[in-house]
Amino acid sequence: MSNTNRLRIAIQKGGRLSKDCQELLKQLGVKLNLREQRLIAHSTNMPIDVLRVRDDDIPGLVMDGVCDLGIVGENVLVEVQAERERQGVAFEVNKLSKLDFGYCRLALAWPQELGPQDKSWFEGKRIATTYPEILSQYLKREGINASTVMLTGSVEVAPRAGLADAICDLVSTGATLEANGLMQGDTILESNACLIQNKDLTDQSKLDLINTLMPRLRGVRQAKE
Ligand code: PRP
Ligand code: ZN
Ligand code: MG
Repeated sequence: MSNTNRLRIAIQKGGRLSKDCQELLKQLGVKLNLREQRLIAHSTNMPIDVLRVRDDDIPGLVMDGVCDLGIVGENVLVEVQAERERQGVAFEVNKLSKLDFGYCRLALAWPQELGPQDKSWFEGKRIATTYPEILSQYLKREGINASTVMLTGSVEVAPRAGLADAICDLVSTGATLEANGLMQGDTILESNACLIQNKDLTDQSKLDLINTLMPRLRGVRQAKE
């Protein structure tokens, strides 16, 4: 365990958001010594430690106070929130800022050779997804009786592997769908990256540090506009 007086920030280890997160920290003036295989990177110029983890773990780490801040897609945040609520556990984190990267859509998709389909096609089908809560809410809202198959990765190969008839996954450039011969349907949720904070954070030196970082963050965002 490293020194807990240091502000802990969770970011995605390898994936769509990793590069932009590292770039943002750099723009905020946080110097990091990022060695590929390290879970924790210590800042060399600020009392900050960066934890590189699976994006799905970030909301929980911040809510439980293991990390003070986290950068995560709203898609993951909404899913974890719905899951905890269903389990009867309150989910609370402070959303400090929406970030201007990581835009994606959570969308339905099915094998291209089937051609265009409407909602009724999904009746009785199996849909593979990493977002079972968001998908179930959508299916309920639309009155579709379909089952969800939970997969934490390689969702896009599920139809070809015979694990499901269709998928519900994140689409950014569309390259993954295209490479797997899938046709994109309805968007269920749109998402951007966002910055979240543990809501019980009381350590004054950490709060002061966050207060010096936030105006810089606003500056970076305005400079991009
Ligand atoms: C998502 C999704 C696809 C990819 C789609 O993964 O699962 O693999 O991005 O992007 P594209 O349309 O540009 O090809 P992501 O990296 O968000 O997270 P994961 O590693 O948790 O699946
Ligand atoms: Zn993930
Ligand atoms: Mg993926």
